[in-house]
Amino acid sequence: MIENLKKIAGEKAAENVKDGMIVGLGTGSTVKYTILKLGDMVKSGLDIEGVPTSLATERLAKAVGIKLTALKDVEYIDLTIDGADEVDSHMNLIKGGGGALLREKMVAYYSNYVSIVVDERKVSHRLGAFPLPLEVVKFGWKKTMRTVSKLGCKSALRVRNEKPYLTDNNNYIIDCKFEYIDDPAMLNNKLNMIPGVVENGLFIGLVKEVIVGTKNGVKILKSRE
Ligand code: 5RP
Repeated sequence: MIENLKKIAGEKAAENVKDGMIVGLGTGSTVKYTILKLGDMVKSGLDIEGVPTSLATERLAKAVGIKLTALKDVEYIDLTIDGADEVDSHMNLIKGGGGALLREKMVAYYSNYVSIVVDERKVSHRLGAFPLPLEVVKFGWKKTMRTVSKLGCKSALRVRNEKPYLTDNNNYIIDCKFEYIDDPAMLNNKLNMIPGVVENGLFIGLVKEVIVGTKNGVKILKSRE
């Protein structure tokens, strides 16, 4: 059921992709459906170049035949399509559940239009249900984590297979559970002021539309700007 909601949202976003576009390709199990759809469209003649936000997405996009380029090699990105872990009523996001938040945020920042694909469980009034991921350098990570916790969250080093999870940039992830996030912009600034924090998973004011897969079909939320 949830898988179908991801699929309808992911595939809907592919409809906005046109010939000649540079397309930011997000990471995760929802945008996977966009990438698979784009692969079909490329086979039918669509001519695009993708900028992947993770090594996993790079592999998937290559496998389905999407031509790839890199952020450093493009002037700008026309459209980025990505997933999210939580979306609030102002279209602020928590991202990084899949660990790709740094590259995702850079790609979104240099995009003319960012479209987010989620299933309806991800939409909330106020952020905070999902633990906020931070990408941190390994050096002194315990100190960084202690400092972050003083902002009012319960934080934990992300672990996979009993080892610290490593990002594509060879950094660690600290997941920070706040009760709720009242002022995402202020928290974003505070977190990025802490030495050792490379980036945090708050995406503020970057998103133009959210495509939500619901039990009653696809709903599209547009930013007012
Ligand atoms: C990866 C992300 C993903 O976009 C986010 O975790 C959503 O993934 P999914 O669609 O699998 O729920 O931020 O860093």
